[in-house]
This record gives sequence, structure tokens and C-alpha cells, in this order.
Amino acid sequence: MKRVLVIGAKGMLGRDVMEELRSSSLYDVTGWDIDEIDVRVEMDTVEKISRLGPEIVINLAAHVNVDECESQTEKAFAVNAEGMRHVALGAVKCGARVVYISTDYVFDGEKGRAYAEDDSPHPLNVYGRSKLQGERYVQELTKDGVIVRTQWLFGKHGNNFVASVLRQAREKKELSIVDDQTGSPTYTVDLAKVLSALIQCGARGIFHAANRGTCTWFEFGQSILELSGMSGVSIRPISAKELNRPAIRPPYSGLNCERLKQVTGMTLRPWSEALKEYLNSLNPGGRI
Ligand SMILES: NC(=O)c1ccc[n+]([C@@H]2O[C@H](COP(=O)([O-])OP(=O)(O)OC[C@H]3O[C@@H](n4cnc5c(N)ncnc54)[C@H](OP(=O)(O)O)[C@@H]3O)[C@@H](O)[C@H]2O)c1
Repeated sequence: MKRVLVIGAKGMLGRDVMEELRSSSLYDVTGWDIDEIDVRVEMDTVEKISRLGPEIVINLAAHVNVDECESQTEKAFAVNAEGMRHVALGAVKCGARVVYISTDYVFDGEKGRAYAEDDSPHPLNVYGRSKLQGERYVQELTKDGVIVRTQWLFGKHGNNFVASVLRQAREKKELSIVDDQTGSPTYTVDLAKVLSALIQCGARGIFHAANRGTCTWFEFGQSILELSGMSGVSIRPISAKELNRPAIRPPYSGLNCERLKQVTGMTLRPWSEALKEYLNSLNPGGRI
């Protein structure tokens, strides 16, 4: 049995990772969140991790509100970058391997096709810059760390785009959704399986992991309404400029997941299939 520590265990991805690992007899899992450990505090973080002595530390703790990060640069870097440094120091002290979840927002989206792991990062916003710094700490401080870049997460246990579209559709007749940003919606349940597979095969280095296929936020929104059977609500496609959010996002940030396939044999299912399962899990057998 591998002793695994999950930090950020009560978050959206964290809860599905805990469920996935705990459902297997391969792992002895401990889950910590902000109440048990504040990754911003160096000494405490290093001490707590090394005292527990896990073999693997999965760090999911993050300040993920991309727009808030623009006005909270200090907090974004304290959690996403320095927090990762502290976790890595604790892991190195007890000989544990680190798994860090990063983001497509390390890229600027100007490539026009799917990004591979060795494409040069160039983040456009504070969140992306803080996560890239987190990646660099993993690479500098550990010999065998794993960095998994993913995107557009949705899952049962947190606030996400799907939940927000469903909420708005109950309140309004028309929604306005951005149609000039493209990516791959990714289900936390599927990503949790990826993390388990990467741990099992002793992978190291950077991996891209996302559900298959790409769409714009507008197209994603249309599928959410269609698959949840919500009629009488229309969506107006708008530009990111029109929405004018504080953080700039990449126009195209599809991720090439070939390396994941080569190393683990895994290809994630199309995002629309994962979305169906997710919607069904919100309201089994019925309409939303
Ligand atoms: N969501 C996405 O679309 C997306 C896309 C790409 C990558 N990612 C990455 O995936 C990972 C998981 O994201 P998620 O969406 O599951 O985020 P989440 O739901 O916000 O989970 C993060 C967890 O970390 C906790 N946390 C925050 N600050 C902490 C601290 N200083 N010390 C310890 N724990 C702390 C949070 O607690 P509070 O809730 O109390 O703050 C929360 O429980 C993150 O690394 C994120 O950067 C997410």
C-alpha cells in the first residue's frame, strides 16, 4: 500500500481524488485541507508533512479564483507558488514524491493548436504566473516530481461553470457566454483516475490531462442546457472583450495529452460524455 497525502482534500478535485484513492486497496490515504495545514506557512507545512512521512504528496491547495487573483497577487503567489515550495520542502525532507496540479493558463493561447508539455509557457494573468512559479519550484526542488496541467474543471463538489450555467438558467431567460475562448472541459472524476494511474506507474515530469475534444464556453453552455433538458432559455454568444473580466484568458488552450497516453495508456473520454455523467449524478434519472 502506498501512503498518500492529499492537500486541498476538501476542494472540488480533492474530494473526487480522495474518493478514487480510498476506493482502491492500493493506497493508504490521508486528506488535509486548510483546517489541518496552511501551505502558506513554511515551517509548519514542512514539519507536518515530514512528521506524517507519506510516500506521495498530491498538492491541490490553491487560490483558484482567476479574476480575484488579479487584485490579490500576494495571496495568489503565497498559496499557488510559495505554498508549493513549502510542500516540496516537506516532501523532500521525508523522501516523498510530489504531484502538483497546474493549468492551461500557463500558456498565452496564441499557438492556435493544442499545447504539448514542452511548449514554452507565457501566462497572461496572475493566476497563471503563480501556478507557473509553483511548477518551477517542483522542478527545482524535487528530482521526480509530477506536474499535471489540466483545464476547465467541473465536478460535484465545487463551484464551476456547469453549476453556474444551471443556476443562471433557472433565474434568467437569456444568458451571455463568451464564444472566443476555446478549451476542453474536464471532469474531476476522470482527472482523479489519471492521478491514480500516474502514481501507479511511477511517472515523473510534466503531463497534460483533459477530457477529449474542444469547445468554446458558449458551446459548452449550449451542451449544458441541451443535455439537462432546460428549454426556454437562450444563450447569446459574446466576446471576452465584451464581458471584460479582470483576468485575461488565452483564446485557445487545448492540451495535447499524447504523453499521458504513452506513459499510462489512458485517453480520457470526450468531454460531452463526461458532462452527461456529471449532469446525471446531480439528478439521477430525471431532469435537472
Ligand atoms: N478549477 C479549475 O478549473 C482548474 C483548472 C486547472 C487547474 N486547476 C488546479 O486544480 C487544483 C484543484 O482545483 P479545485 O478547482 O479543486 O480548487 P478548490 O475547489 O478551490 O480546492 C482547493 C482547496 O485548497 C484549499 N486551500 C486554499 N488555500 C489553502 C491553503 N493556504 N492551505 C491549504 N489549503 C488551502 C481550499 O480551501 P478553501 O475553499 O477554504 O479556500 C480548497 O479546499 C488546483 O491546484 C488548481 O489550481 C483547477
